[in-house]
Amino acid sequence: MRLSLIFCTLLVLSTSYASAGIFDDPKNLKVLPENISPEELSATMRGFSIGTGLRCSGCHVGEDDQKLTEYDFESDEKEYKKKARKMLEMVNAINNEHLDAIAEDHVQVQCVTCHRGVQEPKLLGQVLAEAAEDNGADGVRETYASLKEEYYGTHSYDFSEFTLSSFARTQGLSGNMPEAMAMLDIMLEENSESFQAHFLYGELSFISGDMVLAKEHLLTALKINPKAVFINRRLKEIEETFRLKKPV
Ligand code: HEC
Ligand code: HEC
Repeated sequence: MRLSLIFCTLLVLSTSYASAGIFDDPKNLKVLPENISPEELSATMRGFSIGTGLRCSGCHVGEDDQKLTEYDFESDEKEYKKKARKMLEMVNAINNEHLDAIAEDHVQVQCVTCHRGVQEPKLLGQVLAEAAEDNGADGVRETYASLKEEYYGTHSYDFSEFTLSSFARTQGLSGNMPEAMAMLDIMLEENSESFQAHFLYGELSFISGDMVLAKEHLLTALKINPKAVFINRRLKEIEETFRLKKPV
């Protein structure tokens, strides 16, 4: 279950109004300090929700359309609550043991530091690599489109050219050419003047033995960035293969 930004905003506002009393007298805290103030507990839970993209009902017994006062927050029935407790221990260890040991006034790691608003804190490249493995080039196209539709402009996934070209390069160098090319096509749809996309298209076509396509894309890359003179070396190699192929 994912939270939209709008839902997050509503959540922040609504928990302060509709939750009268629920944070006053916690009965089952095993990691958080027992004497935590209601305000702090409330803020911590909001941090859990917004950090992981899970609603209160993701970790606690209750339904989304139920009033929070009717939830059973004490219960440890839900799997994600138990996992979250482990996570909380981990975050405490990171902050209080590891980071304290390297700096007095260190950055505080929070749920959102890793999760960035999603339940499974995978990077875009990892999600796409799984899609490639399961469903090939179609998987890459479909997964990219749906993630971009849902998350573009949020902090959850990095849709930068750097991330996309790293994915294409890794796929191509592992021999997954259709998956790599699917990503390069996406990059060119987004920006037909992308140096990285044309350069990688050229390089991967060269590796696949398609010298015509390789030459075309490398020349375009060079036109976009005339300073990338290293491309001339590859173009010379391509000319050489053309020369060798010509009948004497
Ligand atoms: C990612 C999982 C997760 C989410 C989401 C979450 N919580 Fe919690 N909540 C926990 C865990 C874990 C504890 C127990 C912490 C401990 O053992 O110290 C807890 C404890 C509580 C308690 C104290 C219960 C008691 O009696 O001990 C309340 C109240 C609470 N949460 C309310 C909320 C509300 C309201 C929301 C939604 C804004 C929410 N939580 C979202 C994991 C979550
Ligand atoms: C250092 C990075 C990091 C931090 C900080 C972190 N998590 Fe996680 N969390 C992970 C990773 C990685 C996984 C996925 C584990 C796996 O592969 O099953 C995960 C999994 C989870 C899951 C289970 C999700 C699932 O689909 O099974 C929950 C719930 C969760 N984290 C809650 C939290 C909460 C709440 C906090 C803050 C108290 C937090 N995490 C902080 C890295 C982190």
